[in-house]
Amino acid sequence: MSFPTERPRRLRRSEALRSFVRETHLTTKGFIYPMFVCPGTKVRNEVSSMPGVFQQSVDQLLEECREVESLGIPGVILFGLPEHKDARGSEAVVATGVVQRAIEAIKKAKLNLLVITDVCLCEYTDHGHCGVVKDGEVQNEASVEILAEEALSHARAGADIVAPSDMMDGRVGAIRRKLDGAGFAEIAILSYAAKYCSGFYGPFREAAQSAPQFGDRRSNQMDPANAREALKEVRLDLEEGADMVMVKPALPYLDVIRRVRDAFDVPVAAYNVSGEYAMVKAAARNGWLDERRVTLEVLTSISRAGADIILTYHAKDAARWQKAC
Ligand code: PBG
Repeated sequence: MSFPTERPRRLRRSEALRSFVRETHLTTKGFIYPMFVCPGTKVRNEVSSMPGVFQQSVDQLLEECREVESLGIPGVILFGLPEHKDARGSEAVVATGVVQRAIEAIKKAKLNLLVITDVCLCEYTDHGHCGVVKDGEVQNEASVEILAEEALSHARAGADIVAPSDMMDGRVGAIRRKLDGAGFAEIAILSYAAKYCSGFYGPFREAAQSAPQFGDRRSNQMDPANAREALKEVRLDLEEGADMVMVKPALPYLDVIRRVRDAFDVPVAAYNVSGEYAMVKAAARNGWLDERRVTLEVLTSISRAGADIILTYHAKDAARWQKAC
């Protein structure tokens, strides 16, 4: 059967028909809003390459969390800018660290928000690498040990989910054992399982002040050309105890999201990263793109590719637009 019997346009004649046969429904319930917390009080600095995104002190962050909650967004992921950086990222693991204090403040305010923490060292080390460095190389086991301590300190502060983003081998298993051994068997792990070595993290490195001072992250993050390897990374993280897995970035890796979704039966997250956000914002500011339309199209494509959870700086805007629909 084909034309003139088949006429796909029949189902596109009105919005009522289009929405009736729509295959993908973007939902605010799958959004996670990323936030940057810094020392001090009453600090709220906009990140120049990410309009609408701020580095803020705990008091200010808490106010924005109330707004996030009121928009129906289920959770936030926190990134910390420490007071001091050193070679081992010492501030990442202390109970008085910025992220630990932010978690406590959100939990104390009894906000209906899942608190996820990014577990990595690049924001805390003076050299900007995701682990400890010896002879110019990021050391795997020594880094994993500190990362597990960091995850535990987040759990102690009240985090619901920890999300390791360093891409060291064996870190998910080490974090699981550390959490279980300290009585935190109920804390879930969302692993950045297929995290690519991407140019799209540029604006984030301004926001988190985490650019490597020498070299790059090619020895730990994945080669953008590889998709089969993503399935291996996901399998290993699940074997080590990850509860959910993430593909990152999102837009240039929609095929990877789809393959992970088809191959595994766990919740799949995708991180619509800083550079993806910055491109849309910059073009919209120049009047080159319709921001609302393009943002919803991007987020819908990530959902259509198979992501159940979308980490996105557009979360608040998209939640508002969804409400208005
Ligand atoms: C930390 C981390 C990064 C991002 C999330 N966690 C930066 C990096 O790996 O260089 C990027 C997020 C974004 O670009 O929005 N390792």
